Amino acid sequence: HYMLKEIFEQPDAIRNTMRGRLNEDEGTAVFGGLNLSPKELRNIRRIVFTACGTSWHSALVGEYLFEELAQIPVEVEYASELRYRNPPMSDDTLVFAITQSGETADTLAALREMKRKGHPTLAICNVVGSSIAQEAEGGIYLHAGPEIGVASTKAYTSQCVALAMLALYFGRLRHLGYADGRRMIEQLQALPDKISEALESNEAVRRIAERYVECDNFLYLGRHFNFPTALEGALKLKEISYVHAEGYPAAEMKHGPIALVDERTPSVFVMPRGFIYDKVMSNLEEIKARGGPVIAVAEKGDDRIRKVADAVVEIPQVDEWLQPLVSIIPLQLLAYHIAVLRG
Ligand code: F6R
Repeated sequence: HYMLKEIFEQPDAIRNTMRGRLNEDEGTAVFGGLNLSPKELRNIRRIVFTACGTSWHSALVGEYLFEELAQIPVEVEYASELRYRNPPMSDDTLVFAITQSGETADTLAALREMKRKGHPTLAICNVVGSSIAQEAEGGIYLHAGPEIGVASTKAYTSQCVALAMLALYFGRLRHLGYADGRRMIEQLQALPDKISEALESNEAVRRIAERYVECDNFLYLGRHFNFPTALEGALKLKEISYVHAEGYPAAEMKHGPIALVDERTPSVFVMPRGFIYDKVMSNLEEIKARGGPVIAVAEKGDDRIRKVADAVVEIPQVDEWLQPLVSIIPLQLLAYHIAVLRG
């Protein structure tokens, strides 16, 4: 299937997204097509990301990255809503449309509306020469290669990498120092191999899919950098296997959705180690207390999770800001295998 092929193309896809865009000497990222000078970009005080579906999820990853690394306020807007809204927006707001195809009608319409209002508009886009790529005033091509599968996989991780590089670039325009920039570049360069390592979970994920294939409801839970991963994992499962799934910030569970938990409703916890790990662990224990099975996506060598989760998928350790890039891999595979097993 194209979906599986494209899942496995991700190390190369992100290599291509990064190619020629990391400047080690200056400890920053470089983009040829933004068409805005560093001086103009320094004056940007607010960023709006607008997109649909999976691209909207990568925009959420972008929001966390920009807040953390560039300390610029970011809003993530559904393009289908933004196009008909009239939000007050200051002059120093930059708008990014994020899209694989460059042809999504709502994203194009939102971009046009923002451009009409006089905001600088840029695109993060995969398809060269597409409508959105042409109408935006500049932007970044993903170079992820054609995405044929209907469910977006490699375009998603490529978008996340483009946003990570962009956050590095904006950070370096402001308060991020050279040493931080160099360290982040090294981590980005190591990422394709980390994704290859995450792909080694394929067989383990297929066995987990066999175990839970009869379930008709799944919850996907994560926090902070891994909250968008939970949303994206749930979308992949819904879209490709026609199984109901909900993504939630793990701590929101107790405010209602926990009522859905029973022994036939697995919760997929996205919980690599990091500052929020203990908090997610206590959310997990609440699910266990209600008798819900837990599938955990956790880091290699995490012995603690093995004692509480019913199934564990291992991903390699990466710095927290890059966790969304590896934590999504087993969830793409899980959606794929459940879909195939259900026919
Ligand atoms: C989900 C999926 C869709 C697209 C959405 C936007 O797997 O593929 O949710 O992400 O239709 O498409 P683009 O990114 O082409 O604007």
